[in-house]
Amino acid sequence: MINYDVTPIAGACGADIQGFDLSAELSDEAVKAIRTALLDNLVVFFRDQDLSPDAQVAFSRRFGELNIDRFVVPMEGHPEIMVIVKEADEVLNFGKVWHSDVTFQAEPAMGSILYAVEVPPYGGDTMWANQYLAYEALSDGMKAMLEGLRAVHTARAGYGKAALDKRFDSIKRSMQIYRDRDGEAEKETAHPIVRTHPETGRKALYVNAAYTERIEGMTVEESKPILEYLYAHCVRPEFTCRFTWTKGAVAFWDNRAAQHYPINDYNGYRREMRRATVCGDRPV
Ligand code: SIN
Repeated sequence: MINYDVTPIAGACGADIQGFDLSAELSDEAVKAIRTALLDNLVVFFRDQDLSPDAQVAFSRRFGELNIDRFVVPMEGHPEIMVIVKEADEVLNFGKVWHSDVTFQAEPAMGSILYAVEVPPYGGDTMWANQYLAYEALSDGMKAMLEGLRAVHTARAGYGKAALDKRFDSIKRSMQIYRDRDGEAEKETAHPIVRTHPETGRKALYVNAAYTERIEGMTVEESKPILEYLYAHCVRPEFTCRFTWTKGAVAFWDNRAAQHYPINDYNGYRREMRRATVCGDRPV
């Protein structure tokens, strides 16, 4: 019998969970409870955790295989951990627009587990948006139009040659990105614009401003008005929650039904997070 509490932090998504020490070996019952809370709330938060990289990997593996990022150089000795850092003298943050993780992959992430190592004295919050609600709020006409459409996703805009040339030439960024990935960033994959969540069976919008390039069968220009409309619609304030980090906090989100946005409002202060990313399946 486990003893824990799940407390929603907003109407659309997000819940605090009390009662678990994520550095300990969790029972199957505890893992099931966390998974249920995740499916119900799309993002769950745990405060005051003390996670070594090994412990974060062990906890994350209870929810599936871990993704090794194709572009970001991982933590030394821990290929499953991405260190997301913005130094006090940097101005750009990682993530920077609303997105769902690694949708440029044929099988994008199921979940991401982010652990706060160092947080600024103010700012640096992260927001999430519920993509079931975004889908459900569309008109019947828009739903009918999107049904069966797929969108092309690629890492080109973030990690392609042009993007990296700009990144390396102009602005200081301490996160290390692999430059030579044999055209990996130019690869494209298509996903349904409305996906059905493999565990809940609910429909969710599945396009994002970071990696979605165009609607399959249309040009970038033709796709743009529809995608721009969807990007703005997807993140309406009433679909969102906002989390203020404290050192040792952990957020675990479901990339299949939520987008997230790291707010870059803490220039002059250092912020360091560690992310493990749980593999997902091909969206349908
Ligand atoms: C991310 O996009 O995974 C980073 C989120 C954050 O730094 O809050």
